[in-house]
Amino acid sequence: MELPKLGAIQLDQLINFSTPKSWGISDPARFNALMEEAKTLVTPGYYLGDNLFTWGRNNSLFEDAAFRQAWTDNIQNDADQAIAWRRYVLACLAFNCMQQPGDFVECGVYAGSGIKTVMDYLGGKAFPKTFWGYDTFDYNPVQGHSFAGQADGFYNQVQARFDGYPQVRLIKGFIPDSFAQGMPEQIAYLHIDMNNAAGEIAALESLFDRVVSGGVIVLDDYEWSIYRGQKQAEDPWFEARGYRVVPLPTGQGMLIKR
Ligand SMILES: C[S@@+](CC[C@H](N)C(=O)[O-])C[C@H]1O[C@@H](n2cnc3c(N)ncnc32)[C@H](O)[C@@H]1O
Repeated sequence: MELPKLGAIQLDQLINFSTPKSWGISDPARFNALMEEAKTLVTPGYYLGDNLFTWGRNNSLFEDAAFRQAWTDNIQNDADQAIAWRRYVLACLAFNCMQQPGDFVECGVYAGSGIKTVMDYLGGKAFPKTFWGYDTFDYNPVQGHSFAGQADGFYNQVQARFDGYPQVRLIKGFIPDSFAQGMPEQIAYLHIDMNNAAGEIAALESLFDRVVSGGVIVLDDYEWSIYRGQKQAEDPWFEARGYRVVPLPTGQGMLIKR
């Protein structure tokens, strides 16, 4: 399988991106009106959405044709659209993990868009590694947070999205109990996206030692203040092992295993 290649870029062309989807805004109409004006005041290459407003950037994600295709093919809701930059962080880290021994893992799969975007970027049905996805699927395990659609039959719907992708192993059940159904021996790429501290720490307890040297760990919501409890739990967990999480502007946290 051939990895995707970047095309040539035009020095004088920059791509802008704008979506109304962000979180934590008290008056969306007023905010959107102000941002419409703000966009006219900045140099091109802006990104507005997912609680970000940046400008004067290359916006590399939109110049990578293979990524654009994988991302747009897997947009199922306005959040999937807004978090394009987060998806590109995953896609690029996953690209680099293709050279590492070990499987790919996502804890907190929901509808599968995170896994499928990465796989479609890296060969689609020809993706050459096993990708494990763990979730309760059919019920919401997180108190105070809801994920639309989680009810009986949801697992079957997500599984159907991966028809023709035999490398995907979706494990239904509560983390960490569901790890008893199977776990990879070696992990090259570990994406943890569970929106609760206890679940994410439980995933780390079970999986961290299986991540290979040079493998990557991404914590989806590490840097968003609404999920501050995750940072509170994860910082000391990593510090005890001699690691510091890198907070990214996208709200993700990442680190590379020694
Ligand atoms: C934000 S969604 C995941 C989104 C997905 N990673 C993506 O990129 O589209 C969070 C998911 O974590 C799952 N989750 C949270 N705690 C869990 C636990 N203890 N065991 C299994 N799944 C859990 C929820 O069921 C939910 O589907």
